[in-house]
Amino acid sequence: MILAVETSCDDTCAAVVDGPRVLANVISSQAAVHDRYGGVVPEVASRHHLELVEPVVGAALEEAGVALERIEAVAVTAGPGLIGALLVGLSSAKAIAAARRLPLIPVDHLQGHVAANFLEPDPLQPPFLCLLASGGHTLLAAVHDHGGHLVLGQTLDDAAGEAIDKAARMLGLGYPGGPALERLAASGDPGAFALPLAMTRDAGLDFSFSGLKTAMAYRCRELGEEEVDARRADLAASFQAAVVGQLIAKLERALEGGDWGAVALGGGVAANRALRDATAELCERRGARLKLVPGELCTDNAAMIGAAALHAKRLPYPDYLAYDAFAAGELAA
Ligand code: KG4
Ligand code: ZN
Repeated sequence: MILAVETSCDDTCAAVVDGPRVLANVISSQAAVHDRYGGVVPEVASRHHLELVEPVVGAALEEAGVALERIEAVAVTAGPGLIGALLVGLSSAKAIAAARRLPLIPVDHLQGHVAANFLEPDPLQPPFLCLLASGGHTLLAAVHDHGGHLVLGQTLDDAAGEAIDKAARMLGLGYPGGPALERLAASGDPGAFALPLAMTRDAGLDFSFSGLKTAMAYRCRELGEEEVDARRADLAASFQAAVVGQLIAKLERALEGGDWGAVALGGGVAANRALRDATAELCERRGARLKLVPGELCTDNAAMIGAAALHAKRLPYPDYLAYDAFAAGELAA
C-alpha cells in the first residue's frame, strides 16, 4: 500500500495504490490559475502546491478508504521538473514518511509516465517500446524491465506538448492548449495547410518541434488576423497532423529498428485522439500490440508515480531526510 505524491509541474496530485491497483488518484489542476499568463509560472505553481498538497493527500486517502496507518511507503516525484514545485511535494512526502518512520521512494517523473502502463486493468509486461510525449519531454524509450527505461531518441528542442501549447496560443486558445486544440481540429481539414514534418528524413530517432512552431507562426502572420480567425479549425487540424506525423514517423522507425511486440504511449499528448488512432493504425500494420491507458493516466498524475515506486529503490528512515529534488537529469542512484 503506497501513498504517492506528484508536484513536478502545475498539477497537485496524490494517489493510493495497492500493488498495481489504483485505489485513489486525485488531481488538482492549476490550469485555470496559469491560463491568464499563457503558461505555467513556476513560483505561482510552487505557492499553489503548498496550499493544495495537504488537502489533496487527504482526499486521496479518503477516496481510497485507507487510513494513514495502513500506508507502507511514501512515493514522490523527485525530478525532473520545476524545482520549487518538486520541493513542495518532496518535503511533504518526507514529512508524512518520517512522522511514521516509513520508507520513502523517490521516483523519476518520466519513469512514472512509462509505469502508468503497469497499472491495472491489463498491466503491460516489458519488453515494449514507449513513445512519451508531454509538455516537458518527447522521447522514445525502450522498456526492458519494470525498473527503468533506455532513451532511444528525444527532442532536440521543444517538446511536442510545448509546441502544441504555443500553437494553441497563436489560435487564441487558453492554457493548456492540447485539449482545446484537439477539439478545434476535429472540425478542420488536416490537409489545408502544408506544415513541415521535421526530422522525418533524418535517420535517427530524435525529434524537433521548434521549426514547426516557427512555420506555424509565419503562416499565421501571412494569413493575417481575420483569415486566421476564419480558418482556425483548419490551422489546428494541420498543426496537429504535423505533430502526429512526426511522432508516428519516428515510432515507425524505432519499430523497424527493433523486434518490438508491444507499443505503449505516455505523457499528456498521448491523450490526443488523432495520435492514439494513428498509433493504432501503425501497430496494426506492423503486427504490434498497442497499450493505451486512459487520458487521466497520460497527463500528470500520482498513480503512475505509485506504479513506478513498486519497482524502485526504497530509502529507509532516516536516510532520505537530506534527499534532494532535481530539475533536470536523472535520479541519484
Ligand atoms: O504529461 P503532462 O500532463 O505534463 C508534463 O509532464 O509536461 O503533459 C501536458 C501536455 C501539455 O502540453 C498539454 O497541452 C498536452 O500535454 N496535452 C494534449 C492533450 N492533453 C494534454 N495535447 C494534445 N491533445 C490532448 N488531448
Ligand atoms: Zn509529465
